[in-house]
Amino acid sequence: MKLTKYLNSVLLILVVMATLSCSSEQDEMDHVDSLINQMTLDEKIGQMNQLMNFVDSLPIDPYFYNLIKEGQVGSVLNAFSPEMIHEMQRIAVQESRLGIPLLIGRDIIHGYRTIFPVNIGLAATFNPQLVKECAEIAAMEARSEGVNWTFAPMMDISRDPRWGRMVESCGEDPYLAEQMAVASIKGFQGDDLSNKNSIAATAKHYVGYGAAIGGRDYNTTLIPEAELRNVYLRPFKAAVQADVASVMSGFNELNGVPTSGNVYTIRNILKNEWGFKGFVVSDWASVKNLQVHGFAKDSMDATEKAFIAGVDMDMCSSYFIDNLKSLVENGIVKEELIDNAVRRILKVKFDLDLFDKPYATEGNKLLTEQALDLAKKTVIQSAVLLQNKNNVLPLSKNIKKVAVIGPLADAPHEQMGTWVFDGKEENSITPLKAIIDFLGEERVIYSPGLETSRTIDKKGLNDAIKTAQNADVVLLFMGDESILTGEAHCRAELTLPGCQNELIHEISKLGKPTVLVMMTGVILMVEPILGKVDALLYGWHPGTMGGPGYVDLLFGIESPSGKLPMTFPRTEGQIPVYYNHNNTGHPPSDESWIRMYDIPVKAWQTSLGNTSHYLDYGFEPLFEFGFGLSYTEFQYSDIKLSKKVISKNDTLVVAAKIKNIGGVKADDVAQLYVRDLVGSIVRPVKELKGFKRIRLNPGEEKIVEFMLSSEDLTFHDGEKWHVEPGEFHVWIGNSSKASLMTKFELK
Ligand code: NOJ
Repeated sequence: MKLTKYLNSVLLILVVMATLSCSSEQDEMDHVDSLINQMTLDEKIGQMNQLMNFVDSLPIDPYFYNLIKEGQVGSVLNAFSPEMIHEMQRIAVQESRLGIPLLIGRDIIHGYRTIFPVNIGLAATFNPQLVKECAEIAAMEARSEGVNWTFAPMMDISRDPRWGRMVESCGEDPYLAEQMAVASIKGFQGDDLSNKNSIAATAKHYVGYGAAIGGRDYNTTLIPEAELRNVYLRPFKAAVQADVASVMSGFNELNGVPTSGNVYTIRNILKNEWGFKGFVVSDWASVKNLQVHGFAKDSMDATEKAFIAGVDMDMCSSYFIDNLKSLVENGIVKEELIDNAVRRILKVKFDLDLFDKPYATEGNKLLTEQALDLAKKTVIQSAVLLQNKNNVLPLSKNIKKVAVIGPLADAPHEQMGTWVFDGKEENSITPLKAIIDFLGEERVIYSPGLETSRTIDKKGLNDAIKTAQNADVVLLFMGDESILTGEAHCRAELTLPGCQNELIHEISKLGKPTVLVMMTGVILMVEPILGKVDALLYGWHPGTMGGPGYVDLLFGIESPSGKLPMTFPRTEGQIPVYYNHNNTGHPPSDESWIRMYDIPVKAWQTSLGNTSHYLDYGFEPLFEFGFGLSYTEFQYSDIKLSKKVISKNDTLVVAAKIKNIGGVKADDVAQLYVRDLVGSIVRPVKELKGFKRIRLNPGEEKIVEFMLSSEDLTFHDGEKWHVEPGEFHVWIGNSSKASLMTKFELK
């Protein structure tokens, strides 16, 4: 027994040494295969098992210890500390027969120790380079504690703000989601997964999860093939092209088939059609949940369905280790298919160089100056200025007295946002702290008014009102506690919780210049608040450096430049409302909107002239996709095309002039939209095809250029991809309401 172990260890060392020198993919696959050849069926299935750790201190729970030692664990989820990670990895590497290292999986969603704004805020930067840098920092920090695999980026398209997980998404647009997903993957994985600061990324949740009916998490999704291809699958395809290491199958049922048992989406599209080389991990117990869905009759059936569909690793159900062996022994599952799954998992371990470097990288890499500067920059670029009456912002640095009010003004935990496991509230710099640091203690007066965002006890309101009375300007920091957003935290009513509306109302009666900074992960129905405050800065849950980032914006050191990645409805009843919708046969307009109270009593029923609107809320949202104000103004003009007619395989240059016509140096995000006027299936009224962040001094102008290829104009009709000849409209501007337009033809 001992000899076998020794021989196997020697063999493994040989494998490892050889791997170091292998340069080609083929060499690596040969090493993977030679390892597979040494593995028993149990050991193979063990690699396909992700263990959920729930004991938060050492020593390792004896049951887990044995499972790892027996080679029954390929990955661990939620090892709680660097010491625990090290110990688990040590058991796998030194005590298991083949010494195969573990994938240490962790939800590193918007930062590891340095917490960046929540993902919807990161999307609002419209700055993929910045998002890439955030992922690089997160990867470096994580790897320095032994984590080598993140369950990010989440790339579900989300068109329903009731869905609590929209906070983790890039919002409603597939192009924006593609750009941000690819940027995060490149940031996490680096040029090469074997770099010491790289970790493996996961494209999740495959697929359609964000389309949960009614915005209620885990709910059924019904997505026609054309929409699946044109919208929901697109970021995943881009992720595969960017060599993402893993893909996570979802919790949702898609058109009747749960996505963790979906042969069509996983086996056919992801693996066969797109040639995905990484591995598929199920979402948490979603293999087991095939039974709950009523899609599998028992655990054996669920295992078979998930595995045959293409799930390679089972997160936390333990169904694979419980059942796969007998499915093979009974001839239901072929061992070659198991080998294929194991090959995918081992390849990622080899790619990460885990056989050589299984443990944490050396040196403390947490919260470096570079990380904190970047975090502050992302806060600045993510905040979206939605209203600025009488240019109340930016505030003068000489202001005498500022009242800081609200339950989020000094809430270091809440400002980190959802899905934070490794960030620490003691590292958060709150708005209150940052404002005091900036203005000095004597010029700042503070009253939270409410203890938390949900407080309904009004006893603190008077103190807040008195505090506001004594100030020249009132800064309100309102929003949500982080736990009111995220997984399974959906809301049917998207209003400020607790007594916050009442507090705003009382403060507004004072007639002082009032600025509201909204700190949340979701899109709240802010229309009723707009009349009560002068400025509204949508600051999201900003993470560690929220306070300093806000200070730069509030006092004009930087101008806001964030843009909305999701449409802001006027009321929940308008949901879903998104800019890239199809036209109806009765498109609405201001003239055609029949206002509820204008209808004569007993008016005649007719279809004539009717359009697609609500009697009470019309058809326009409150703020459109891509919208965001600045302290300056940008003028777009002179839209030009390099050609008026293009043919298939041609590329077009679309250019426009952008000029800063205000008095402040600032960034703007120039956006390119296209409409395919007539299609074999109805095409969206506008589609984002490009964006660029541009910095301009007052009076400065630049030409912004976008390349548009015929490839960018393709769409799926439910059966196949097309580029159809015809007329196209193209716009450049700084929101989806851009009006500067020209036309071209595809022949
Ligand atoms: C369930 C969530 O849906 C998924 O996004 C997450 O990565 C896993 N749990 C692991 O925590």
